[in-house]
Amino acid sequence: MVLRKTSGRIGLTLGALALGGIAFGGFSINLAKAATAQSGQAEPIPPRQHWSFAGPFGKFDRAQLQRGYKVYHDVCSNCHSMKLLSFRDLAAPGGPDFSEAQVKALAATYKVKDGPNDAGQMYERPGRPADTFPSPFANKEAAAAAFGTAPPDMSDLAKARSIPRPFPLFIFDAFTQYQEEGPDYIVGILNGYTHPNDPNWNEYFPGHKIAMPNPLSDGAVVYTDGSPQTVKQYSKDVAAFLFWAAEPKLDARKELGFRVMLFLIVFAVLMYFTKKKVWSNIPH
Ligand code: HEC
Repeated sequence: MVLRKTSGRIGLTLGALALGGIAFGGFSINLAKAATAQSGQAEPIPPRQHWSFAGPFGKFDRAQLQRGYKVYHDVCSNCHSMKLLSFRDLAAPGGPDFSEAQVKALAATYKVKDGPNDAGQMYERPGRPADTFPSPFANKEAAAAAFGTAPPDMSDLAKARSIPRPFPLFIFDAFTQYQEEGPDYIVGILNGYTHPNDPNWNEYFPGHKIAMPNPLSDGAVVYTDGSPQTVKQYSKDVAAFLFWAAEPKLDARKELGFRVMLFLIVFAVLMYFTKKKVWSNIPH
């Protein structure tokens, strides 16, 4: 009798908990809806792209990073700085992996401020592999003056921007290891100029009004590897490059993570058999 009473109570408590959970779930959905309603026209979630570097075994595609660098160099670097990256980073294995000679040549195409010299003057010289990428504007104020809003530095742009993913998406994301919101967002922005009459209207930019004029058009960047010279391809390549720039050690991190998991599995099996052996002579 007593036992039945307790189990009945446990059942009731579990039922209440489950109901509470459902109610809370509904509440968060309502919150998300309310947020959408408040901002009027909510920005849609940028579509997910297929990335070679997604998932636990993901790796950067070297040819794609090299193309992405070309798009950055030819187009984006006219306005966006990338202060944390040096030319020689482009030679790192697991990244664009340019040869040392290529990096030297490519650094030399930039003009870098140096000095002061013996006469106390600053001067410009060709870039060297150890230099960081020079900024297109003298300072933030000059950049802001040109567009109304300063173009953000690109060193960690692909990591710094995340898309708010409403319930229940963010729960699935944890299981599918979705970490590519940044590059998805960048592809979204670059393909988001969908109102031809309003050059500052962007489908995916928060608030839809963006100070950046549409930077890409089909054929604007010349590819030498036969890849399509389209905005779609450019945007994916440059987003991949910027993701690499924000996390150059991604390949190594994923490899280490995989090894740690492998170690833990082997260790768990070993511990299981050790435990069996240790307890085998003890009656229980
Ligand atoms: C003509 C100058 C110019 C060029 C070229 C340019 N941008 Fe921009 N970009 C801007 C400005 C200005 C902003 C700030 C927009 C704002 O906050 O309204 C911006 C913002 C952005 C944003 C949004 C960042 C955020 O705050 O969420 C992304 C993404 C971006 N640029 C990517 C690129 C990429 C990739 C390229 C090269 C293909 C590029 N831009 C080329 C000027 C430029």
